[in-house]
Amino acid sequence: HRDLLGIAKLERHEILFLLAEAEQWVSFNRGKAKHSDALSGLTIINAFFENSTRTLLSFEIAGKRLGADVVNMHAAQSSVKKGETLIDTAITLNAMRADALVIRHGSSGAVELIASKVDCPVLNAGDGQHEHPTQGLLDALALRHALRERGNNGEDFTGMTVTICGDILHSRVARSNLLCLQALGASVRLCAPPALMPAGVEAMGGQPFHDFDTALKGSDVVMMLRLQNERMQGAFIPSEREYHHLYGLTQDRLQRHAPDALVMHPGPMNRGVEIDSDVADMLDRSIITRQVEMGVAIRMACLDVLTRRARGIDGWEELA
Ligand code: CP
Repeated sequence: HRDLLGIAKLERHEILFLLAEAEQWVSFNRGKAKHSDALSGLTIINAFFENSTRTLLSFEIAGKRLGADVVNMHAAQSSVKKGETLIDTAITLNAMRADALVIRHGSSGAVELIASKVDCPVLNAGDGQHEHPTQGLLDALALRHALRERGNNGEDFTGMTVTICGDILHSRVARSNLLCLQALGASVRLCAPPALMPAGVEAMGGQPFHDFDTALKGSDVVMMLRLQNERMQGAFIPSEREYHHLYGLTQDRLQRHAPDALVMHPGPMNRGVEIDSDVADMLDRSIITRQVEMGVAIRMACLDVLTRRARGIDGWEELA
């Protein structure tokens, strides 16, 4: 079987394949009868060692709409709290013969470690500061749909400039999006205060900026990220007012520097800090709720494709 651990492990044609697979589920989810038997008889365990609203719920909805039995394990109520190790937890989940495991964990690499201990496909729902691959994929799908409405029917983002602004240092979303958007042809600018910019972004193909106004100029898309205060460990926590002044996306800033840009945010948003409410709620240019909608379709596609082998259908190894 194959896992979905990060965008870094995907070829461009595999990303395009997963996006193409998700299109059918976008239409399906907009219909009335949202039930398929594609994964009937399969058990999916969502094991979340960190908080989540969007990712957990959309994986649960995705599995249920595909007809699977879906079980959620919340670490706060699990035996992890009694000192059970990650590996023992993985062995325990494996013994229950799940057909797919969806894991979120606060440590980079933890999901890959679990994947090495179990017999079924593992989907990374976010591991520490490393990757959040289904977020990268759903963002690409949301962007593709928004561009289509603007008359751009290309399947990729060649020639486009996307600025990702916020706490890049701690962001698995930034990494997965950088890799995914670049694979699909976009130029990616990363904008953050110096202390929140990781080393080596140029080596990954990203263009680093510390001045938000400069980064915004010429951008087709701006993706805002929140400050991950839970991961700062005392390193650098600017005041919210100072941060908003320098890096907050306001109407004024957007109109002055990128008057046609689409606005994205993976959520959860801190309104009034990295993004103002009147920007987040712009009906014509903010695609934040569309990102959430696409999350269900992408996760349906990923669960479907990754369990094909187990269901005796050619997997993506054969199709892609
Ligand atoms: N975008 C995202 O991962 O949101 P949650 O933390 O709510 O899952």
